[in-house]
Amino acid sequence: MKSKAPAIGLFDSGVGGLTVLRELQLTLPHFDFVYLGDSARFPYGSKSASTIAQYSKECAEFLVKQDVEMIVVACNTASSFALNTLVGQYQLPIIGTIESAVCCALQATKTGRIGVLGTEGTISSRVYEKRLAAFNPDLHVYSKACPLFVALVEEGMLSGEIVDQVVELYLSELKTQNIDTLILGCTHYPLLANAIRGFLGDSISLIECSAAVAQEASKTFGQLDSSIHNTHGSTKFFVTDDPKHFSRLAPKFLGGVQIESKLVDIRTDS
Ligand code: DGL
Repeated sequence: MKSKAPAIGLFDSGVGGLTVLRELQLTLPHFDFVYLGDSARFPYGSKSASTIAQYSKECAEFLVKQDVEMIVVACNTASSFALNTLVGQYQLPIIGTIESAVCCALQATKTGRIGVLGTEGTISSRVYEKRLAAFNPDLHVYSKACPLFVALVEEGMLSGEIVDQVVELYLSELKTQNIDTLILGCTHYPLLANAIRGFLGDSISLIECSAAVAQEASKTFGQLDSSIHNTHGSTKFFVTDDPKHFSRLAPKFLGGVQIESKLVDIRTDS
């Protein structure tokens, strides 16, 4: 049985993965976390599979050097393009966001009509469609790339006229498809949940992967020594560009908690 709470590393292209971190902190308050936002190379969503695979490898490499005992790929785009390769390359457990979101959507849907929102990369990979079809080939899945959503969130724009216009632009067609479940297949999108719900209505189940990811992470470590449960873990934040921007935005994702972040260079060819 472990007598010290392990550290979990997470990475995303920017602040989006903080939605996953927050859930992990709530589920595993005695754990330490190391968060890496690869902000210098943001956005991931419009880049090719091979570029994302390389970036993801460098992020994982950095986290391994921080002595984490598990990596959470807190980015759907990186999970779509790089998770399988990363899992094959490292000894430590590595989990992504896709499976958790798929399981939650399958539990939530009653009509079998599911929408998926994501970055251009995630949607073009068709990873959600394939995973959902593997469980049930009779599902009707409607996917939509919403690249501006990430830009809005990174600007801290979570409500208002412009947000509503962008939501309408992307979701008008989806609204006619009679879906009962909508996967927010990008870790930035939960911050726009109110605007999305406002447009689509309350009857649709919005699926965020973060709670399910946190449950999966907690299962990985099994039973911990009871003394650990009296301790409170800490979180270190690293970014590859402009720590001020990241630290200014992070409280919106972390329930108002202020943080400091440190600039790092994670490129392995530098
Ligand atoms: N948060 C990321 C995701 O879940 C990527 C956003 C981006 O960099 O485009 O896909």
